[in-house]
Amino acid sequence: MPTVLITGANRGLGLEFTKIYAENKWKVIACCRTPEKASVLKQIKTEFDSQIIIFKMDICNQKDIDDFCNKNRTTTIDLLINNAGVQFENYGSAAYESMGEDPNPANYDYEMWAETMKINLFAPTKLTGHLTPMLERSDNAKVIMLSSGIASLENTWQAGRYAYKTSKAALNMVVRTLGEWLQTKKIATFAVSPGWTRTDMGGPNAPHHSRTAVVGLYKVILEADFANTGSFYNFDGKKIPW
Ligand SMILES: NC(=O)c1ccc[n+]([C@@H]2O[C@H](COP(=O)([O-])OP(=O)(O)OC[C@H]3O[C@@H](n4cnc5c(N)ncnc54)[C@H](OP(=O)(O)O)[C@@H]3O)[C@@H](O)[C@H]2O)c1
Repeated sequence: MPTVLITGANRGLGLEFTKIYAENKWKVIACCRTPEKASVLKQIKTEFDSQIIIFKMDICNQKDIDDFCNKNRTTTIDLLINNAGVQFENYGSAAYESMGEDPNPANYDYEMWAETMKINLFAPTKLTGHLTPMLERSDNAKVIMLSSGIASLENTWQAGRYAYKTSKAALNMVVRTLGEWLQTKKIATFAVSPGWTRTDMGGPNAPHHSRTAVVGLYKVILEADFANTGSFYNFDGKKIPW
């Protein structure tokens, strides 16, 4: 039974990833910040029993990462889905209320931008490094970075929301740089976009359900092969220009 580790597995796309991999007979290490509050995830676990392991992990907390690594010295991870992420500039958020869509960088919230970089860029990159020994034990290891269509430099020409867009564009560059190092270890690395999806982050007006995004991404990830390491895929399987 192959093993997938998913970050931010308690809600949204991470929860949907947990379900689809468990349904397809994967062992799922479902990581989340506060397992005691992850009631839906715990409910899903009752259906799949020991196939799902819930692990407490704030991806920015080195102690949580060390704890996982210390308890999993001989574990093999076949697939790492770096899903956890934030968009503090969402409609209705505190940052949105104070800045709105103001595109003037003189008025931008740079603390929020730094925090976004920490969570969306530094944490998944660092976590991947710590989990590399576990990925190296797999014959077909893949690392997935949850990116976004609006991280595409070629497709995006729109002021504002600097934090989220730059964090995901930089994450794409991690795929093209860290990816080359992982390639030498026979680990493939991909950026993927779920498209605009109805979750807490995507909001209620997004065109599709998280199940639609994850069904598409499950197929994309399954078919993404080592020869194409370093690619950026949409959930419908089409390549997205960088
Ligand atoms: N929804 C969209 O339209 C869309 C589009 C493009 C890309 N994406 C990307 O897809 C991924 C999932 O998005 P989503 O829509 O499912 O978002 P979501 O519903 O807001 O869920 C975000 C998840 O990330 C977790 N998280 C945030 N900070 C964390 C941290 N420091 N440590 C561990 N977990 C943390 C949250 O945990 P808590 O519950 O503890 O906060 C939650 O489980 C993100 O990377 C996002 O950027 C989403």
